[in-house]
Amino acid sequence: MSKIVVLISGRGSNLIAIHKNILNSEIGCVISNNTDAQGIKYARNVGIQTHIIPHTNYNCREDFDKSLAVLIDRYQPKLIVLAGFMRILTRWFIQRYTQQIVNIHPSLLPSFTGINATRQAFQARIKITGVTVHYVSEQLDCGPIIAQGTVPILSTDNEHTLATRVLQLEHKIYPFIINKLLRNKVHMDMTGLVVVENEPDDNKSLGIFANNIFF
Ligand code: GRF
Repeated sequence: MSKIVVLISGRGSNLIAIHKNILNSEIGCVISNNTDAQGIKYARNVGIQTHIIPHTNYNCREDFDKSLAVLIDRYQPKLIVLAGFMRILTRWFIQRYTQQIVNIHPSLLPSFTGINATRQAFQARIKITGVTVHYVSEQLDCGPIIAQGTVPILSTDNEHTLATRVLQLEHKIYPFIINKLLRNKVHMDMTGLVVVENEPDDNKSLGIFANNIFF
């Protein structure tokens, strides 16, 4: 069975959604740079192997990333899933796992990179935002886009209500795309465009989100 490794720094709600919805695969381990990450508690409770590598123990990013790689390689994962992992990874790490690292970002990239993306979108007074699942490249929040989902910004929204709907969509799109990746249904063409294969059950799996998710 293919394995994934999930990297987190905090709450872990995407980790939970992934754990509950991945098919024919298992989470080899969850790794966090943060001892207090809430998601680590969840993982332990459900019996997933966990590891903490405090980044504060390292003098430079590359040394941290090397320890991370040693740990990851023990599990031989097919995919490395970033789910709220608040560390910038080095070129060395990213090149070592080309097209194996994926991330989810709470905006329609390339708009609103970096932290507080939902707040940035809300404050920009735009009418639509969303989420992006992408391969991780050397530039922050810039890798090839695999899928995006849209969330309208309503006149009645505040930052909190908007963030809640964005997160609901994350919990649907991320496991959906991870399952496609694990089944080798995601390819990159010669131009760097990511193509995701349609499958008969897609609409059923996406349910009420089917019209808001694009891949
Ligand atoms: C999510 O909004 C995700 O898009 C971003 O970090 C947040 C993590 O949330 N990369 P959680 O820890 O999965 O609840």
